[in-house]
Amino acid sequence: MSKTILITGGAGFIGSHLTRLFVKKYPDYKIVNLDKLTYAGNLENLRDIEGAPNYQFVKGDIADLSFVRSMFEQHHFDGVLHCAAESHVDRSIANPLEFVQTNVVGTVCLLQAAFEAWSENMEDKIFYHISTDEVYGSLGTEGFFTEKTAYDPRSPYSASKASSDHFVRAFYHTYKLPVKLSNCSNNYGPFHFPEKLIPLCIMNIIHRRPLPIYGKGENVRDWLYVEDHVSAIDLIFHKGKLGETYNIGGHNEWSNINLVKELCRQMDSKLSRKSGESEQLITYVKDRAGHDLRYAIDSSKLTRDLGWKPSLQFEEGLSRTIDWYLQNQTWLEDVTSGSYQNYYQQQYHRR
Ligand code: NAD
Ligand code: DAU
Repeated sequence: MSKTILITGGAGFIGSHLTRLFVKKYPDYKIVNLDKLTYAGNLENLRDIEGAPNYQFVKGDIADLSFVRSMFEQHHFDGVLHCAAESHVDRSIANPLEFVQTNVVGTVCLLQAAFEAWSENMEDKIFYHISTDEVYGSLGTEGFFTEKTAYDPRSPYSASKASSDHFVRAFYHTYKLPVKLSNCSNNYGPFHFPEKLIPLCIMNIIHRRPLPIYGKGENVRDWLYVEDHVSAIDLIFHKGKLGETYNIGGHNEWSNINLVKELCRQMDSKLSRKSGESEQLITYVKDRAGHDLRYAIDSSKLTRDLGWKPSLQFEEGLSRTIDWYLQNQTWLEDVTSGSYQNYYQQQYHRR
């Protein structure tokens, strides 16, 4: 094996796509997936590669420093792709401390263990931190987030991610740890946990349940197909400059209400329902506290410096995503049994 790479959070949504890409594209890399298997982590997401000779799964917590140190001692990692996080804004509003523990303490434990393991020789080592556009705060109707936009996080989730980004840069400047960062806009695609807007609405349309729209549905997000995100990570990991940050986005802004109407339109057609039937399910509910109005990414640095562009048009990506959920309803049923029911009850039935 030419390199040993640690991927954290590889059993989650983005992490599973990233793990699959690296395991398949780089047979000479050994990929170690470290994941705590929280409610969001699911080994079913990786069934097709679990027997690959260059892949290994380890269950564990990134916030357990002695365990993380032992992982570095055992595997002699050359690189880290750090995806593990608590990722849902609504859960961060209900339970901010869990977000500090995993996103801040967990990231610092990984940085510390990497620094200790690599301090004698940092050559060819890379610590890549995967982050979000939410650290930049909320845009008005104009403008885009660039890599120079000042941080202005507004939810416990984005504050914890902003803090982790600062620690990554602090390790670069203070200890010369070789780091790279990227901040991406909203992802969508297969294996997306159905607490997030798109998979939640797909699931509710299938079952003819209400589609909860926060506030007036006017908030805007910039959606990117998950495989385009991981192709950008691959490029930055191999070709990006150390110490640099790259914004990744789809140039694909949708207000929540228009997005959900497009979902309804496509699903009525795929499910042979009467046109307009699913739109009747749209239900306006109490707004998210501190709800950011608009996110939009300027990814021109990534295009200019490394030649990356999204490959898919949104309507096609959405169509592929819906088809995947329609063909994988057992996956949906499995992840929404048990504790998901309590979450749904608390999140939506008190609104
Ligand atoms: P996810 O919630 O689907 O997956 C997170 C994974 O991390 C899960 O497998 C979970 O089990 C694991 N995990 C959580 N706590 C852990 C811990 N303490 N130790 C080890 N593993 C732990 O998240 P996602 O949507 O795939 O996001 C992955 C990363 O990408 C996150 O850092 C997130 O901030 C970032 N991001 C997400 C999006 C998006 O739209 N989903 C956009 C930009 C950036
Ligand atoms: O921008 C990147 C971020 O995108 C990632 O860092 C986060 O991990 C990821 O969860 C996502 O955050 P959002 O809060 O934008 O995603 P979510 O799918 O939760 O919500 C999208 C929009 O839809 C947001 O404006 C809130 C709204 N919404 C969401 C849910 C779950 C609703 O109107 N109703 C809902 O039931």
